[in-house]
Amino acid sequence: MFEARSIAAGSKPEFYRELAAQLEALLMGERDPIANAANTSALLFQMMPDLNWAGFYIMRSGELVLGPFQGKPACVRIPVGRGVCGAAVAQRKSMLVEDVHAFPGHIACDAASRSELVVPLIGRDDVIGVIDLDSPSPARFDADDQAGIERIAAIWLAACGEGVKAALARAS
Ligand code: SME
Repeated sequence: MFEARSIAAGSKPEFYRELAAQLEALLMGERDPIANAANTSALLFQMMPDLNWAGFYIMRSGELVLGPFQGKPACVRIPVGRGVCGAAVAQRKSMLVEDVHAFPGHIACDAASRSELVVPLIGRDDVIGVIDLDSPSPARFDADDQAGIERIAAIWLAACGEGVKAALARAS
């Protein structure tokens, strides 16, 4: 049985090194992308302070569709280019939003959200989804969080393997 270990308060890079090690152990030997997304969401939500939502949106037929997550029920479909998640896909880069109210087109799923970090999942050449984190605190996320979650995204992609895109298509 996997048991998440609490991470001693230290620097953010240390926190993310430990979180990455725990995620590698949690996903080891499992390729199913939905199962791995569910466990990744649970670990992020359990271990990261000051979040109100942590989860995945998966690209299906050209739009983002809600995947495994922790938090309040969320909007199901997000067109590419819409909101923070859609912008991360369109621009193929992480989006660090200190104040969601100041982000044009931000999609409010939970009224408590004040800041957001979205990291695209890029398998080979295609964006296959995003990891989305929301916080009730303004400016909750910084460059260390972005680097840390980009590493988390890379671990999820590596665990799911080369066939991740086909496996997600089969799961739809
Ligand atoms: N705020 C996101 C939508 C997803 S929810 O936060 C879970 C956005 O603007 O894309």
